[in-house]
Amino acid sequence: MWSCRALLLSVLTMNLFCAAVGQSNFTMSAEQEVYQAEEKSNITITWLLHFDTNRPPDFLQIDLMNVKRKTRVFFYNSETGTEVYPDENYRGRLQCEPQLARKRRLECLLTDLRLNDTGTYHCIVVLNEEISSKTCDLNVTAAFEKPVEVTSKPANSKRIGLHAALALLAVVIIALSLRYLTVKLFK
Ligand SMILES: *[C@@H]1O[C@H](CO)[C@@H](O)[C@H](O)[C@H]1NC(C)=O
Ligand SMILES: *[C@@H]1O[C@H](CO)[C@@H](O)[C@H](O)[C@H]1NC(C)=O
Ligand SMILES: *[C@@H]1O[C@H](CO)[C@@H](O)[C@H](O)[C@H]1NC(C)=O
Ligand SMILES: *[C@@H]1O[C@H](CO)[C@@H](O)[C@H](O)[C@H]1NC(C)=O
Repeated sequence: MWSCRALLLSVLTMNLFCAAVGQSNFTMSAEQEVYQAEEKSNITITWLLHFDTNRPPDFLQIDLMNVKRKTRVFFYNSETGTEVYPDENYRGRLQCEPQLARKRRLECLLTDLRLNDTGTYHCIVVLNEEISSKTCDLNVTAAFEKPVEVTSKPANSKRIGLHAALALLAVVIIALSLRYLTVKLFK
């Protein structure tokens, strides 16, 4: 009975010990969980890096994936100096700034948004020997068709004006014919 409890306790402490050793001090969060933007506009997606400032980042690797399409859209490795945008759908439209990692930020600017940029983006960062990751969602919506609304109003008022003019013309015609009739009758 006692030995059993002792065994259980040691297993518990072992687990706690392992958890403490395996605990990572480096974590990530997204400045916004969901980014909403209109088609053809630009957006900056920002991840925040939380790490011990006493130890500056000497090694940094960033992997940014489009989860739905299962493609890598950005890769950076500070050791080899690699900084690539492997997915041609994003080439020339995506610009990430790994240099900001020292300021505990990772910013990616995506320009000329397309509806099919909508999806989940998974950012995996290796900082020194620690790894952390965070996803965030981008929702690109169709641009508002405001010009159509604006032009429809003058068209409506024009139509109203036309109706008024026709009504006035009818009144004039009736008045003229009445006058003609009365003149004829009294003659
Ligand atoms: C986490 O930080 C503590 C001190 O704050 C340090 O002793 C420990 O080694 C760090 N863990 C890792 C995995 O870097
Ligand atoms: C989007 O970014 C591009 C390139 O930086 C710039 O030329 C364009 O004016 C921006 N568009 C908007 C709507 O901010
Ligand atoms: C996304 O849409 C653009 C046009 O807006 C198209 O050129 C591109 O091929 C599409 N990409 C995918 C992966 O469907
Ligand atoms: C995207 O935004 C539209 C408009 O606000 C909303 O109706 C839709 O539910 C959103 N989709 C996702 C996946 O968040």
